[in-house]
Amino acid sequence: MNTLNSKHIILGITGGIAAYKSAELTRRLRDAGADVRVVMTRAATEFVTPLTFQALSGNPVHTELLDEKAEAGMGHIQLARWADAVLIAPASANCLAKLAHGRADDLLTTLCLASEAPLALAPAMNRVMWQDPATQDNVVTLKKRGVALFGPAVGSQACGETGEGRLLDGPELVAALSSLFKSGLLQGIDVLITAGPTYEPIDPVRFIGNRSSGRMGFALARAAREAGAKVTLISGPCHLTTPDDVQRIDVETAAQMLTTVMQHIARNQIFISAAAVADYRPRVASQQKLKKQQAERIIELERTEDILAQVSQLEPRPFVVGFAAETENVERNARKKLERKALDMIAANRVGKDANAQDIGFNSEYNALQVISANGEVKLELARKTALARELIKLIAEHYSKHRQQQEHTA
Ligand code: CTP
Repeated sequence: MNTLNSKHIILGITGGIAAYKSAELTRRLRDAGADVRVVMTRAATEFVTPLTFQALSGNPVHTELLDEKAEAGMGHIQLARWADAVLIAPASANCLAKLAHGRADDLLTTLCLASEAPLALAPAMNRVMWQDPATQDNVVTLKKRGVALFGPAVGSQACGETGEGRLLDGPELVAALSSLFKSGLLQGIDVLITAGPTYEPIDPVRFIGNRSSGRMGFALARAAREAGAKVTLISGPCHLTTPDDVQRIDVETAAQMLTTVMQHIARNQIFISAAAVADYRPRVASQQKLKKQQAERIIELERTEDILAQVSQLEPRPFVVGFAAETENVERNARKKLERKALDMIAANRVGKDANAQDIGFNSEYNALQVISANGEVKLELARKTALARELIKLIAEHYSKHRQQQEHTA
């Protein structure tokens, strides 16, 4: 099963004899669908060559913090942002100590400090080193900070002793890592999500569309599925891969999206409207290709149906989450939309170019959100849409659960 489908995994390898097992682990991670980038400490390269991991991961191996060439390719901050999770296997006693104290004296430890992605450690060391109170204190500190510890296992060790300190096997590590992405927060809940643009036909070959890539909606579908929800994704035209285990229905126009949403909404408890639905469509879509005219052509437009507003009027209605893509007065406009469309939550973002003229929001892998509800406001800082989607799903799950409790209370 592709339990890590399209996940960006940084595999950190520290110096220890178990480093040879990480070669097999790299294969297993890729078999599970992960995109793997290997970061090795200098000591690790004494045990296995970076070339081995380059061949197995299909990506260049990162070893130095201050390597101009590597930084020009993918700098350590970019690498930190790229990661959906960082797994260090094997993690030496020294690595645990450095992380527990927030040291950043090589690429791997610097990355761990710079990344917001979940961190998992698979320790491997001599059993006496593992049991040493200093190591155990470090483990307690790291666990308290939310770092996941995978193993170690008990068994015969490379040093000839038998005890606790063996690296977990590849399949065990892949399973443990996969479970990091599964929160169970939406277990048993049905979630309907719209995503992507809509295309409103002018004639058989032309349409009015927009720059929405669909990434945010697809990332939400994946995150909701990982949180245990049963997900239906109604998507406008886009070229993204359907997340595992998600039912996807393709539509083209706003009208088709509305019909499809209404066909499915009844059995869903949460509706997330991430699609960039066209607000207008040509009043008449020509059956034949329009020929050019001498002068200008005027295409008359009419309003499309507001899917989100219609869903929030349903009785009974699901928990309704809308999006607001704004180029100015983000918060004020979003609050107005929250009220006007009677939403439970709205996720607002600024679209356009950032200070470096890079696209944000639309047509970009990055986004930042301001999430507004009756209970207040939460800011989700600029991050990859996959990471942001997970945060947003967590928030939606929390609010939905409160909302349900209130409903049960008043019933
Ligand atoms: N939306 C929808 N159906 C439409 C238009 C929008 O379901 N016909 C949903 C979007 O999916 C999004 C929210 O409404 O969740 C906000 O869309 P937006 O187009 O920004 O808001 P509008 O209400 O159209 O307001 P304005 O044009 O003033 O920005």
